[in-house]
Amino acid sequence: MVDLSSRYLGMALKNPLVASASPLSRELDTARHLEDAGAAALVMYSLWEEDLLAEERQFDRFMHHQALGHGEASSFLPPQPGFQSSLDQYLEQLQSLKAHLEIPVIASLNGVSEEGWVGYGRDLQDAGADALEINIYYVAADAEETAADVERRYLDVLAHLENAVSIPVSVKLSPQFSSPLHFTRHLYQAGADAVVIFNRFYQSDIDLETLSVEPQLQLSDPYESLLRVRWAAILRGALDIDIAVTGGFHRVEDVIKALLVGANAVQLCSVLLKQGPGVIADILQSLTQWMADKEYEAVTQMQGSLSHRNAADPAAFERESYRAVLDSFTPPPGVRY
Ligand SMILES: Cc1cc2nc3c(=O)[nH]c(=O)nc-3n(C[C@H](O)[C@H](O)[C@H](O)COP(=O)(O)O)c2cc1C
Repeated sequence: MVDLSSRYLGMALKNPLVASASPLSRELDTARHLEDAGAAALVMYSLWEEDLLAEERQFDRFMHHQALGHGEASSFLPPQPGFQSSLDQYLEQLQSLKAHLEIPVIASLNGVSEEGWVGYGRDLQDAGADALEINIYYVAADAEETAADVERRYLDVLAHLENAVSIPVSVKLSPQFSSPLHFTRHLYQAGADAVVIFNRFYQSDIDLETLSVEPQLQLSDPYESLLRVRWAAILRGALDIDIAVTGGFHRVEDVIKALLVGANAVQLCSVLLKQGPGVIADILQSLTQWMADKEYEAVTQMQGSLSHRNAADPAAFERESYRAVLDSFTPPPGVRY
């Protein structure tokens, strides 16, 4: 019998497949389908900094800047009937998921500044989150901001969160760092228990009719997983931090590659949105079959066997393969240059 179990964020997972942050965690029924299909853990959709800060400001205006005429009267203000903040809604959904699912639930915070919103991580912990994933979706578009400033931003957010909570924390990273390995080491030293590689940056497109810039959401393609596989290999070869991959993992082949290079968990999103939760069961079945065919007894045996440190040809993950790959290109029939 093949053992699919893995460890991630200090938790024993029954297998390495995790449902990534997405709207699929908004409905309890859908979350149950994910669990029934075999998801080993669930990352909730994110709680957004923008919402938290906007509600804080609104509350502040309501409490302190009304023309009530009498200062003391503000303390008699009744709570707004029917008003539920995004934090309240999130905590309610988190508690419901925790009450009805057996798999670990990872709450997700999404933002870029180190303001007090990060402290809400404590509320998520108190509501039962097994771990926290923090997504710092940041597009560095300021000419005054150095690469070191951008890294400092991540580290500051992480430090605030680490102050607020005691549960494991993972950081969902952008692929756009000059030295991802060096930076991940800093995150690790600052207390991150895992990195989630990588955020997909949704591309803005230009509408040629209206000449306006329009953000667009396209689900991923399996080809995108290779960037993650390469960096998981390099990180696993050098650091002990847990690694989850996200971005382009649709098929069992993609999952196997991630495990071979050392991923602790493989997060699925686009494939679930396209094919529904049932695809998890298919991938797990194919993974079990592949492992049996290759005589692997456990996922832990596979994990890292092809990392940068262990690969027979580590250079294949680096520049040395670059020329060889370019030179290997042959034009399609009929195309001459
Ligand atoms: C519709 C949609 C909603 C998403 N919502 C979130 C979110 O709330 N927080 C987050 O960190 N990532 C979110 N993501 C990103 C996914 O968690 C995942 O990292 C990304 O889609 C790459 O994985 P994939 O190639 O399997 O889709 C969302 C993605 C999609 C497509």
